Amino acid sequence: MKPKKLHIKTYGCQMNVYDSERIVEVLTPLGFTLTDRVEDADMVVLNTCHIREKAAEKVYSELGRLRAHQAHKAQAGGRMILGVAGCVAQAQGQEVLNRAPFVDLVFGPQTYHRLGEMVARTMREHGAVLNTDFPEDSKFDSLARTRTVNGAAAFLAVQEGCDKFCTYCVVPYTRGAEYSRRATDVLDEARQLVDLGAQEITLLGQNVNAYHGEGASGQTWGLGRLIREMANIDGLERIRYTTSYPADMNDDLIGAHAEVDKLMPYLHLPVQTGSDTVLKAMNRQHNADDYKCVVNKLRTARSDLALSSDFIVGFPGETEADFAATLKLVEDVTFIQAYSFKYSARAGTPAAALDNQIPEALKAERLARLQALLNAQSLAFNKTSVGQRFRVLFERPGKHTGQLIGRSPYMQAVVVEADTGLMNTVQDVAVVAAGPNSLKGTIVDEKRACA
Ligand code: SAH
Ligand code: SF4
Ligand code: F3S
Repeated sequence: MKPKKLHIKTYGCQMNVYDSERIVEVLTPLGFTLTDRVEDADMVVLNTCHIREKAAEKVYSELGRLRAHQAHKAQAGGRMILGVAGCVAQAQGQEVLNRAPFVDLVFGPQTYHRLGEMVARTMREHGAVLNTDFPEDSKFDSLARTRTVNGAAAFLAVQEGCDKFCTYCVVPYTRGAEYSRRATDVLDEARQLVDLGAQEITLLGQNVNAYHGEGASGQTWGLGRLIREMANIDGLERIRYTTSYPADMNDDLIGAHAEVDKLMPYLHLPVQTGSDTVLKAMNRQHNADDYKCVVNKLRTARSDLALSSDFIVGFPGETEADFAATLKLVEDVTFIQAYSFKYSARAGTPAAALDNQIPEALKAERLARLQALLNAQSLAFNKTSVGQRFRVLFERPGKHTGQLIGRSPYMQAVVVEADTGLMNTVQDVAVVAAGPNSLKGTIVDEKRACA
């Protein structure tokens, strides 16, 4: 088999990062190895995101650039296969080929386990291959049990798809119906990841807390049970899960936060808005009080729990009073991290057809006000971290030689001066300074504590 080079670029959420890892695993047996350099690649895959218009449009500008590389390669007698994967591929399918006819492969998130035959076909026939099926067989059953791990933190998809149909969102259409993997398969994959060096595993799903997989002897397990079982894996230090839907937060899962030390005290729980009117128009199954009630229960279970969230400003019909309710909720709850976006109308979703769309300038103004508040909360939290000791998992080298960067239990980036030998280990770190985006710390050397 002639060695071939693969370049893959990932947009969007962590599920796409996971999918990209698995796409590489599917292509490795075909002789592909990864390259950072587009110009060297025999195959380029864009794993795309359709969530907001900007994310989707980026793909076409990137394809324009890739076309030049592809032509260059062809002039030299070679070939560069271009593949578009992910949610834009799923949502737009044939339209991708119409807008970018030089693309060879368009395949959705549920079909990449069949990539081997798709690549072989496009090589043989030189025609474009389009595969946006939702196949009967789950891709998870077909994927080889050959996980790879880069570093000490790994993603593990346990649930996929969404049945919630928030009126602004494309995910139910791009990822399909909610599906939970068998718990035994998930635990197998977790053990595999730990054997390969993973110390932290983040369980992934579009609505991960809606997980209801088949357990060891046929009964259904929720996410709480799955987490408790995972915690028994020796060598696994940290467990996280994302993204959760507030209405699917059940008492068993909340209980796991109280019982399982390995479950990190940090939770991403998107609320979107603090206005009950807007929540209703969004078809969210919670109001602001429901959200606060869940947060209270979580904090009762684990007093040091910190939250992050997602917000959408300028949903159609959002009034100044609605927006004020969002600011009030943020003040009441307090978030240490957040992702906030202007509402982006997505073709085919119910909210896009509403006639009370908010002008861009007003959306931008509200977003700036919301972000000022969220950034202040995040900085305040970072400042309260100064003087504390955190367990930090070191993941990458810092900007300057001699520096390592890791993550605290709260996902804060922590920079220390340390030997590279501490990479991929968990260390006690004393936090000495805080900025808006990172902390500075020193490794605590117990032996020298009294020196
Ligand atoms: N399943 C998760 C989120 C998936 S999408 C949940 O329900 O919370 C990630 C985030 O993108 C959403 O939480 C939302 O804040 C944002 N988002 C989704 N559709 C959007 C749109 N049309 N415009 C702006 N932001 C959007
Ligand atoms: Fe989208 Fe709502 Fe489903 Fe989250 S719950 S993926 S926002 S439809
Ligand atoms: Fe984007 Fe698809 Fe994830 S639309 S956010 S890549 S599920």
